[in-house]
Amino acid sequence: DKITWSITDASKGDYAHFMEKEIFEQPAALENAMRGRFAADGSTAQFGGLNVTASEFRHIDRLMFCACGTAWHACLVTEHLIERFARLPVEVDYASEFRYRNTPLGSNTLFFVMSQSGETIDTLAALREAKRKGHRVLAISNVVGSSIAREADGGIYQHVGPEIGVASTKAFTSQLLIGAMMALYLARMRDMSFTDGVQFANALKAAPDLVRRVLDQAPNIREIAKRYAQSTDMLFLGRLSLFPLALEGALKLKEISYIHAEGYPAAEMKHGPIALISERCPSVFFAPAGEIFNKIVSSMQEIKARKGAVIAITTEGMQLPAGLANDVIEIPACHEAVLPIVAAIPIQLLSYYIAVERGCDVDKPRNLAKSVTVE
Ligand code: G6P
Repeated sequence: DKITWSITDASKGDYAHFMEKEIFEQPAALENAMRGRFAADGSTAQFGGLNVTASEFRHIDRLMFCACGTAWHACLVTEHLIERFARLPVEVDYASEFRYRNTPLGSNTLFFVMSQSGETIDTLAALREAKRKGHRVLAISNVVGSSIAREADGGIYQHVGPEIGVASTKAFTSQLLIGAMMALYLARMRDMSFTDGVQFANALKAAPDLVRRVLDQAPNIREIAKRYAQSTDMLFLGRLSLFPLALEGALKLKEISYIHAEGYPAAEMKHGPIALISERCPSVFFAPAGEIFNKIVSSMQEIKARKGAVIAITTEGMQLPAGLANDVIEIPACHEAVLPIVAAIPIQLLSYYIAVERGCDVDKPRNLAKSVTVE
């Protein structure tokens, strides 16, 4: 592979910040990450550089993923999708923990690292530790020829072009997409039918359009952001595949706006975080259509009863009880595998506009680096 980025990729163009540009280029980034990666029959995914044969894939009985920061959140979503659709057990660990934890890895465990930059030292160390144990190591990375890409035995490039903003956006959603494509690939080798595979693949192909529809709501999200920009704390609450999105929402907000934020599984909120609820601590809820919608609504009611403001991210057409949410951001109905990608957009925009409103240096937040190459 050779580098295919042009100098215009690395300029802000008409955008105020790289982060804003990178948020808005996500439909194109997702197209690039999927290009050429669906099988001719349209029912599964294919990856050129894994260097693992289909029959080797068929024999794995567990996967392990290591990463840091936002990539770690993408691994958690990938875990959910692989377990849900391919019925394979998945473990996710922080690379920094894995490298000293000495966790048992069975011989049929497939080991992955995920790193946008491919240079994060803890992730590289996790890769080396797994290799030392004799494991084949695969990498999901955005930077062609990075240290991690070079040392891995095979992998998947994200192909989203350079990400300059310290807070990861397009790299994150492309990692979610690749995770979903892996879930499809592994599921189709096991119990997923041809028809379900086609439906899954078509849903992924529709992701860029769905993301565009959420991006169209940016002016509305900007208005909402203004109302919450002076908060002292914020909670992000989500369940199932959107629990990692709650973690990512909290990370994004604290990274760039310096508002203290925490992400929790929505029902876990009553075991501690609810003590924080006040008029200056709003909660962002992911409340998509689905089997546990009503459970999420009752968590919202608990927040509301304690005078906490509720910002609900919900599916178009869902009815929340009157007066429950102070603000609502709608996302289009979509396949479960696409939901985390679509749900990422409102939290990116919300964090971005809150940080801008607070006058923060969005692209270069204090104390943070784009890639952390020291332990
Ligand atoms: C740093 C960045 C984060 C990023 C993390 C992992 O902390 O500020 O945005 O998620 O490193 O980076 P990687 O390049 O390994 O994905």
